[in-house]
Amino acid sequence: MSEPAITIDSHLPLDWAEGAMRDDISRAFSNSPKVLPPKWLYDDRGSDLFDQITRLPEYYPTEAERAILAERSAEIAAKTGATTVAELGSGTSDKTRTLLDAFWATGQLKRFVPLDVSEATLLDAAEMLASRYEGLQVHAVVGDFTRHLQQLPIGGRRLVAFLGGTLGNFYEEERRAFLGALGDSLEADEWVLLGVDVIKPIEQILAAYNDQAGLTADFIKNVLTVLNSSLAADFDPALFDYIPFWDGLQERVDMRLRVETPHTVRIDALELVVEFTEGEEIRVEISTKFRVEKLRAELAEAGFDVTDVWTGEADDFGLVLARRI
Ligand code: AVJ
Repeated sequence: MSEPAITIDSHLPLDWAEGAMRDDISRAFSNSPKVLPPKWLYDDRGSDLFDQITRLPEYYPTEAERAILAERSAEIAAKTGATTVAELGSGTSDKTRTLLDAFWATGQLKRFVPLDVSEATLLDAAEMLASRYEGLQVHAVVGDFTRHLQQLPIGGRRLVAFLGGTLGNFYEEERRAFLGALGDSLEADEWVLLGVDVIKPIEQILAAYNDQAGLTADFIKNVLTVLNSSLAADFDPALFDYIPFWDGLQERVDMRLRVETPHTVRIDALELVVEFTEGEEIRVEISTKFRVEKLRAELAEAGFDVTDVWTGEADDFGLVLARRI
């Protein structure tokens, strides 16, 4: 009897988002400064806006990563010998296809393990991939990559891909915890492939987060609309200005929303009333830009040996391959 090509494990209850959002948001607005976790930026509209951002002339990371993956995927397949490719935050698995094509071409690929919070997106992607690669086992995991790395199915030699520069979204402590958990979830001689943005002239970085068309501002402000509809809040996005700036000490873009006019916002679902004073800011997202040596040290601490760093023709993005030791 042949195994079914697609299996799905769910580690998130159907209503997880509601509870998790309530916890996150009440914490965020009870603290000072007010810091939001970026995961709530990606409702349908937010995902669509981000997709448009990736096609902006100023936003270099997506195309840079795509080009490096196209150039190096065959080498990655040969070097790792991996038979399972897992992808964290896989979404539609668009950019992963380049990688999977290369692994498929050698005949070594047995299984693909996409992990994402959205079951609907996973199902679509799994069906597309199972028909593109006939005989491939697709073992989808509905989960949150900050909580469910231990749930990645074991067996075979695995390569875990975490692409797009999402590692840069973590604050330093969160990044250490994430890399530690990643190390704990893998065995010796298994691999990770990280797509990370790298340090470069500040003007180029800032332009990517302050585009002429204003899509990044819309994307960041959309989080207020998400809170309005999910938590019965009454944020008026017009009272918030999008302020991106370069934090030279932490080497990251800091994306904030700033209030000029003092006002009060109600978040009814949390029975919370939030005061905003003049000049007060909400920290919505950060995007850390890495130095290879520092990342190498952080990966070493988590049990990984960096074997390759490819930065492409323009040296403007990094694809990092590391082996669990
Ligand atoms: C999806 C986290 C990689 O940090 O560049 C883009 C998100 N925010 N523009 C990034 C983002 C504003 C993006 N990542």
